[in-house]
Amino acid sequence: MQNKLKKVIKIENLNFGYDKNLVLENIDLDVFESDFLGIIGPNGSGKTTLIKLMLGILSPTSGKISILDENPKKAQEKISYVPQFGQMEKSFPIKAKSVVEMGLCGKKSFLPWTKKEDIVKIEKAMKHVDILDLAEKPFGELSGGQQQRCLIARAIVSEPKILLLDEPTASVDSSVEEDIFKLLKKLNNEITIILISHDIGFISSYVNRIACVNKNLVCHNVDDMKIDNIMKDSYSNEVSIIHHKCGL
Ligand SMILES: Nc1ncnc2c1ncn2[C@@H]1O[C@H](COP(=O)(O)OP(=O)(O)OP(=O)(O)O)[C@@H](O)[C@H]1O
Ligand SMILES: [Mg+2]
Repeated sequence: MQNKLKKVIKIENLNFGYDKNLVLENIDLDVFESDFLGIIGPNGSGKTTLIKLMLGILSPTSGKISILDENPKKAQEKISYVPQFGQMEKSFPIKAKSVVEMGLCGKKSFLPWTKKEDIVKIEKAMKHVDILDLAEKPFGELSGGQQQRCLIARAIVSEPKILLLDEPTASVDSSVEEDIFKLLKKLNNEITIILISHDIGFISSYVNRIACVNKNLVCHNVDDMKIDNIMKDSYSNEVSIIHHKCGL
């Protein structure tokens, strides 16, 4: 079925090292339009590096990445990023709606006021993640989950085709985590989503594919994993166990 879908990311024989030691080696990956791809792997295994290569922040040592048939640097307007939680100053004295507006930075005119069409986009993005009523509140006064929704709104306000998230639920509790994943699942109807997580048991209920990164990359369809390996335990959530050879 995936063969009929549009390929939005193509990575071929990619190698990358910050110095002469490779952090990522022989990576091949196709991502399709409707994918909700989870990336897992131990600390320091190269997950964030892989995302930075997709964003065009880093360039491959060798091999090729194309985003919507373009070089990642040229495709930057079509791909958006929610960085690891905590990287933004949480007490920053700025309203929630202004945080969302920051997502239009590259596209904004230099007018000192916000254009009407941009206001419409900001309100649409905030409505999409269900925080429109918090628009005038200072960002620092929002709860962790509301702040994360606000950062997702900032990432989608420019209407990207692909959304990358680096551990979006690392510092929120499990009920907020579930809310955010439900929100991402809804967004996935319109946007390709790639998300780094440490919580494989949790993400396998939401994503359709999981890429295990540990210098190399091995990709699994969640459905295939379920046929082989899911056990239901006495908890309400499904627990999945993956048996494969990539050592994670
Ligand atoms: N700017 C940098 N310069 C040199 N080495 C780096 C740089 N950024 C990351 N590294 C190294 O590259 C390797 C991969 O780092 P990366 O941040 O991609 O890992 P990660 O899988 O995202 O880890 P984590 O789960 O802890 O976020 C690590 O060994 C790290 O120390
Ligand atoms: Mg990381």
